[in-house]
Amino acid sequence: MTEFMQTQAGDAGAFERFDLARVPSPCFVVDEIAIARNLAMLAEVADQSGAHILSALKAFSMFALAPMIRQYLHGTCASGLYEARLAREEYGGEVATFCAGYKESEIDEIIALSDHLIFNSIGQKERFLPRVSAASKPVQVGLRINPEHSEGEIPKYDPCAPCSRLGIPISQLTDKDLEGVDGLHFHTLCEQGFEPLKRTWDAIEARILPYADQLKWLNFGGGHHITRADYDRTALIEFIKDLRTRTGLQIYLEPGEAVALDAGILVGEILDLPTNGMNLAITDISATCHMPDVIEAPYRPAMLNEVSEGHLYRLGGPSCLAGDVIGDYSRAELLKIGERIAFLDQAHYSMVKTNTFNGVALPSIALWNSETDELTMVRKFNYTNFRNRLS
Ligand SMILES: Cc1ncc(COP(=O)(O)O)c(C=O)c1O
Repeated sequence: MTEFMQTQAGDAGAFERFDLARVPSPCFVVDEIAIARNLAMLAEVADQSGAHILSALKAFSMFALAPMIRQYLHGTCASGLYEARLAREEYGGEVATFCAGYKESEIDEIIALSDHLIFNSIGQKERFLPRVSAASKPVQVGLRINPEHSEGEIPKYDPCAPCSRLGIPISQLTDKDLEGVDGLHFHTLCEQGFEPLKRTWDAIEARILPYADQLKWLNFGGGHHITRADYDRTALIEFIKDLRTRTGLQIYLEPGEAVALDAGILVGEILDLPTNGMNLAITDISATCHMPDVIEAPYRPAMLNEVSEGHLYRLGGPSCLAGDVIGDYSRAELLKIGERIAFLDQAHYSMVKTNTFNGVALPSIALWNSETDELTMVRKFNYTNFRNRLS
């Protein structure tokens, strides 16, 4: 494990008792009971605070669960045309779309699909506002602001880092910019608790409150780890209630990870066990194809049944990339070829990011009910899926 690689927390939960041989390999297995548990927590925050909570499709868009998500949350947030269409066609409820840059050729369709259309710059707002006004149904317009207050430690994940392209720096915002605008949006957090949100709001409140009378809503983006055991949900509820009373504005949150936290695993199989300075294990799970954030973030995914001391292996994928390494793991017993393994907490930001580099097969997708033990194969991919993306 390299120094900069943080091991993801990862809670095996009910997956401790899931028989990995029940699914084809590789395969994402999502526990609908764990998703329902997360959704119930989010719905409680929404009910008690009066906030509207939207599920961020960029993090988790397993639309087989859309009927369940619809029961708990107000809607979804989308990152552009395709997600907005998925949101409208599969999920229903409110659709808030934010994209760093809308295209002329797509804007009318996006407007037709969205309830909130959030612009990243004044230039985009001025260019496309007449199209919103001309639309056959009302669409509320938002502006993404950059609070110029960093809470993130890693610049790659900090939209307030110097020269960030995300959001209008709040110090540049003028009265004229707010003309025709119904709401302000910021997204600056990443896997964080309540305090960073509070500090961010405190840093910008004086700049925003003068506009409260002309606005309808504030959207605090995602990055709130609301369903994590140590998240201070009571403080969040009180904060939102107070803000709604003081400003009269509707408050939106659009968490992604929190919807699917600790709710899915990625099952794989050991293909080979070579050695080179240490024990190696080649698996049919590829970091670069199936869990790209392992390399990009980077992080080390927690593994089911790993031990702190035992037989140490460096696990990696079947692709040609030398860096297609998942991490170093200790096991109580020696690994065997054909043995099943699983990485924890893979429902969010893995399933949505898979690719077929090297022709590596996409993982199947299965839904498991950890209470009834019912298993449903939702999707399997084949050669045609690989071929049709290419030409
Ligand atoms: C605008 C916006 N909203 C919501 C989210 C969801 O964030 P998370 O999955 O960290 O909760 C993101 C993530 O990048 C985002 O960019």
